[in-house]
Formats: sequence, structure tokens, C-alpha cells
Amino acid sequence: KLPPVVTIDGPSGSGKGTIAKLLADRLGFVLLDSGALYRAAALAALEKEVDLADEDSLTEVARDLDVRFLISDGCLQVLLEGREVSHEIRMERVSMAASTVAAIPGVRAALLQRQRDFRLQPGLVADGRDMGTTVFPDAPVKVYLTASAEERARRREAQLREKGVSVSLRDLLEDIRARDAQDMNRKASPLAPAKDAVELDSTGVTIEEVLNEVLALVQKRI
Ligand code: C5P
Repeated sequence: KLPPVVTIDGPSGSGKGTIAKLLADRLGFVLLDSGALYRAAALAALEKEVDLADEDSLTEVARDLDVRFLISDGCLQVLLEGREVSHEIRMERVSMAASTVAAIPGVRAALLQRQRDFRLQPGLVADGRDMGTTVFPDAPVKVYLTASAEERARRREAQLREKGVSVSLRDLLEDIRARDAQDMNRKASPLAPAKDAVELDSTGVTIEEVLNEVLALVQKRI
């Protein structure tokens, strides 16, 4: 029998990464941050100076991608060709490139099995855009987490401020809206709730409250 999967999909800044990590810790499950995979592919492409309109070359980059995930001190470390890139892949220019690269069907196909390989005992928590629709359609628990664009921009701003980076809220809001549109309107696995997903809105709700709702679903269904 395949290990159970909890999928958490939603737009950037909805809190899905935070919830997925806490949930995986709580349940002792494996964690898949699928966005990190697309981000690593985008960084590899930027470093190789591959044209972001050249679908065949980008598909090749995804196929050859040498990326590994490690958990160290409770934090996800992303290694690209052995090099620590956890911070670099979160930069704004990589975010936008990831969204562009992720729209290419060949890239998605190249990364599909890699994501499924994370399904190990005792179970998996997978966060992304299409975890419940495409990668793990048979997952017993599917969550679609949203929040208003304004709230997501504020969260991102606070995160950056903590790191000592100051950016304008307006620019962040624009980036978020552009990335949402690109992720929702693409043909290949667009961002959308699975038919059997439970939709949760995290606007004005604490992390603890969202986590408890998801834990209740897990208890009911796994
Ligand atoms: O979740 P995160 O913001 O790290 O993802 C970065 C980008 O990767 C997203 O904007 C999206 O375009 C893409 N992505 C995707 N499918 C996933 C996860 C991420 O297309 N399952």
C-alpha cells in the first residue's frame, strides 16, 4: 500500500510552505517543497544563461537537474550541484523565472517522477501548485490554501524586513499578482483547487488555527 499524502496547494504567500513544514514535523512525515524544485531548475537555467523562451533547452536543464534536499536543524537545505542555494532560490528574480520555467510542459514532465519519489513511509506532506491535481491525484487529504493578495504581500514584506531587505509593498503586490496570473493561466497544470480539495482562507487567521484545521482533516481521513 502506498504511503498517505497530504497535499497543500495555493498561491505564493498563502502560508502553505509554513503549514506544510509544521504539519510534516507534527506527523513525522517526509516533506516535499515542490516549488524549491522549480526554483532550483530556474536558478540552474539562469546560471547557464539559457534563454527563458527556449523550451527545449529548459526541458533539458530540468532533466539533468542535480538537486538534493537536506533537512538540517529543522530547515530545508537545497543543494544545486552540491552547492547550498537555499537563500538564492528565494530571490525575486528566481521566483519570476521559476514561474516562467514551470509553465513549460516538458519541464513539468521531467520533474514529475522526482516528486513522486518523495512518497515514502510513514507518509508525505507535499506543497505546491498541482500536488492535488496532477502529482498526487489519489492523496487522501487535499488542502487548497489562499489569502488575499494584499495580505500575502504584507507577509512577504515582513519576511524580507526580518532579513534586513527593504522593498516597497506596491512592488511586491505587483510581483505577486503577476506570478498568480502566470501560474493560474498557464495550460500545463495551472494553479487551481482539485475537485476534492478543502479550501481554506488564511487571511486574518493564525498559523496555529490553520494547522489545527488541517490536522483535523488528517485525523478524519488518514
Ligand atoms: O511555491 P513557490 O513560490 O516556491 O514556487 C515557485 C514557482 O514554481 C511558482 O510560482 C510556480 O510557478 C512554480 N510551481 C509550480 N508547481 C508547483 C510548485 C511551484 O508550477 N507544484
